[in-house]
Amino acid sequence: MSKIKVGVVGYGTIGKRVADAIRLQDDMELVGITANTYNYKIKAANKKGIKIFPMRGLSDKDHLNHGIDSVHGHAEDLIEQSDIIVDCTPKKTGYKKWYEKRGVKAIFQGGEKADMGTSFVSQCNYADAWGADYIRVVSCNTTGLCRTLKAVDSTYGVKQAHATLIRRAADPWDIYHGPVNALVPHLVVPSHHGPDVKTILPNMELFTTSVSVPTTLMHIHSISVDLEMPTVNIEGVVDLFRSTTRVRMVYNSDGIRSTAEILEYAKDLGRERGDMPEVCVWKETIGLKNDKLFYLQAIHQESDVVPENIDAIRAACKMCSGAESIRKTNLSLGI
Ligand SMILES: NC(=O)c1ccc[n+]([C@@H]2O[C@H](COP(=O)([O-])OP(=O)(O)OC[C@H]3O[C@@H](n4cnc5c(N)ncnc54)[C@H](OP(=O)(O)O)[C@@H]3O)[C@@H](O)[C@H]2O)c1
Repeated sequence: MSKIKVGVVGYGTIGKRVADAIRLQDDMELVGITANTYNYKIKAANKKGIKIFPMRGLSDKDHLNHGIDSVHGHAEDLIEQSDIIVDCTPKKTGYKKWYEKRGVKAIFQGGEKADMGTSFVSQCNYADAWGADYIRVVSCNTTGLCRTLKAVDSTYGVKQAHATLIRRAADPWDIYHGPVNALVPHLVVPSHHGPDVKTILPNMELFTTSVSVPTTLMHIHSISVDLEMPTVNIEGVVDLFRSTTRVRMVYNSDGIRSTAEILEYAKDLGRERGDMPEVCVWKETIGLKNDKLFYLQAIHQESDVVPENIDAIRAACKMCSGAESIRKTNLSLGI
């Protein structure tokens, strides 16, 4: 079977992880990545043997000053040599016009507007994206909310839900953003996450509020759900999450009491870059009262959308069923 040729435009937090994940798939080939500036990330990519296609703004010989031995044409050449592009540029930068002009399919990220393409979370709506020219893998937070709420809805039914998002200030490498010393509520309700979940789960009545806090180590969601079919069986909820793909139960009894310990656990598991693409639900935070279910979940913002990008490529290129794609992607990433 010939491999699908994939290009990655934008090689930052998400792009570099997606590029590495593509290289692990037996049905995909990474054609290359773009460089917007020459920096340590591009140098590391060059060292891995990844082909680099500079944006036009970069001067012809500049790569040599950064110890990068060769580059390959320009970003436009990468697009022309690819069957599909994963665009991981910063929010509202996506180069849709380039892809339209060249008739190339593209996957965008959650920082783009919902009308950029079919919104996508693998385990919720893979079929909706079958053969789509443009797909938007929704944000890390929306992805995490959809994974667990879809599972709860399928088993118990969700009348309505509320989630408070406690959001990391910046990614670990990012010295430019904060807060450094304050808790900052998002002073508009609902935050955009609730409406964004509806682009995946149209019938989900979810109201979200959000606070940014001084950490780089994951987001936490505090979720309460009004169930259609109330239960008193906490073990049943635990089993539900245990059997839901890309959801991982974590336990106080194992010494996992914080996002710091989740990420230490990921490193101990030997995960690439210490990533934890699964949504982590603390068993001890699952509570039931009358018809309400409560739980706390943690989201590794740098990695939870990576498997979704791989599945989105297979959906767009009609490569295999959703279940098969999730199986292949999980296996390759050790999920
Ligand atoms: N980080 C997260 O927590 C996270 C989680 C889920 C989804 N997302 C979404 O994923 C997308 C990418 O976010 P990110 O965090 O990966 O961003 P990032 O780390 O800032 O990386 C962006 C990449 O795009 C390049 N770039 C910047 N401006 C460009 C331009 N005008 N043309 C071409 N390339 C350009 C950057 O190169 P230089 O560094 O050389 O400028 C960098 O390689 C966004 O839509 C974001 O909302 C982010």
